[in-house]
Amino acid sequence: MNRRTVLKVLGSTAAMFTANTKWGAEVTPDTDEKATTLDAGPLDAFEQDKVYEQFRDQGVLLIRRGEEVFALSPICTHRGCKVRAQDDNSFLCKCHKSRFDVDGKVMNGPAVTDLLRLKVKLSADRHVLVRVLKPKTTG
Ligand code: FES
Repeated sequence: MNRRTVLKVLGSTAAMFTANTKWGAEVTPDTDEKATTLDAGPLDAFEQDKVYEQFRDQGVLLIRRGEEVFALSPICTHRGCKVRAQDDNSFLCKCHKSRFDVDGKVMNGPAVTDLLRLKVKLSADRHVLVRVLKPKTTG
């Protein structure tokens, strides 16, 4: 295999990765001065169909579902406590018992607004980068 063939194979692998990996909806404003970028580490460190909350204190719940990777803010939309992942992959806010599904949609109030989706992208070295709003929490 010559150099040109190797580059062609690498190029098609990268294109396949991009085509097969879905990234969550991007709603974190790019222009928000209070936002920072969290490097969550290599994509390969995240198994499919799991919720990762090791970045909860940094304002990120990371979810990998099949080929889809997306992130939610852990800040409850009721009064700002932090939610926690449950065994069924829903998120519970212990302050007033609001519950959200794995997509961040309200299942039970008092919250009436879904969890905020954060912008997620893959860096050139295959790290998951999440645009994070600085948390303002009470719990
Ligand atoms: Fe979460 Fe009230 S702050 S339910």
